[in-house]
Amino acid sequence: MKRIKRTNAFQVTLEIKDDNYINPPKVAQRNAVVNRALKEFSAELNSLNEQTKNFVPGATAADDNIGLSERGQAQLSAQEIMEDWQIPLMEAMAKAIAENGGDILEVGFGRGVSADMIQKYPINSHTIIECNDLVVDQHFKPWKAKYATKDISLVHSLWQDSIDDLGLFDGIFFHTYPLNEDEYMQYVNASITFAEHFFHHASSHLKSGGSFTYFSNEIASLSREHQHMLLKHFSSFTVHVIPLNMPNDVKDTWWADSMVVIKAIK
Ligand SMILES: C[S@@+](CC[C@H](N)C(=O)[O-])C[C@H]1O[C@@H](n2cnc3c(N)ncnc32)[C@H](O)[C@@H]1O
Repeated sequence: MKRIKRTNAFQVTLEIKDDNYINPPKVAQRNAVVNRALKEFSAELNSLNEQTKNFVPGATAADDNIGLSERGQAQLSAQEIMEDWQIPLMEAMAKAIAENGGDILEVGFGRGVSADMIQKYPINSHTIIECNDLVVDQHFKPWKAKYATKDISLVHSLWQDSIDDLGLFDGIFFHTYPLNEDEYMQYVNASITFAEHFFHHASSHLKSGGSFTYFSNEIASLSREHQHMLLKHFSSFTVHVIPLNMPNDVKDTWWADSMVVIKAIK
């Protein structure tokens, strides 16, 4: 089976070589689903054409080896932990999981920007997992001193080493980054979204009806692959496209003027 989709700008050719591949009872059904997939791919190319017009150049990722250096225990500046352009994402994520209160788990403390936002909501408890000793000393300890009367507990470890010992939560906020090249290859390169490797942990530590949030490196919607993955672990989800003020020399590997925040419900 061969299908060709042509426009003035591009041509897509799809050749299905295996007769048993996408093989429903009727030929018309096969045509319908294959044509639809091709139409959707073409629409995606057109929307990428529009989205990429707004990209900033950014720093050169290859020169800086962004995301590949060992940084589990590195001394990092505030901007290396999280660049300021991500703050609107933190706001949307904090609201997604904390506005209804309850017991909150935050994975990755960083500068404590999101932790402050979470504390503004009427939550019962705030459990924070953070692996970096310097982040704990320089950022978490002074931050916690501001909230002396609040129920806040630190789990000072990699989440991979401690999550199984934790109970159930009403909201889970996930914001870490790859700690070395292995994690980069496994969690970023081989995956539709960085948070995917945490989906089943999030789902198994949420109370029924609880919510899980993260942001995804997608610009204006969620890919179908991403949606399939989410629906394997959660009953529903909402997507917010967050406009971003992207600096021209952004260090992180992101160049678009928006990003997607997901709230998934157990
Ligand atoms: C981008 S920062 C979080 C920023 C934070 N949301 C804020 O508003 O400041 C990511 C944090 O996750 C921590 N982290 C990365 N991988 C981790 C892991 N596997 N387990 C625990 N913490 C991790 C890093 O040390 C870092 O402090």
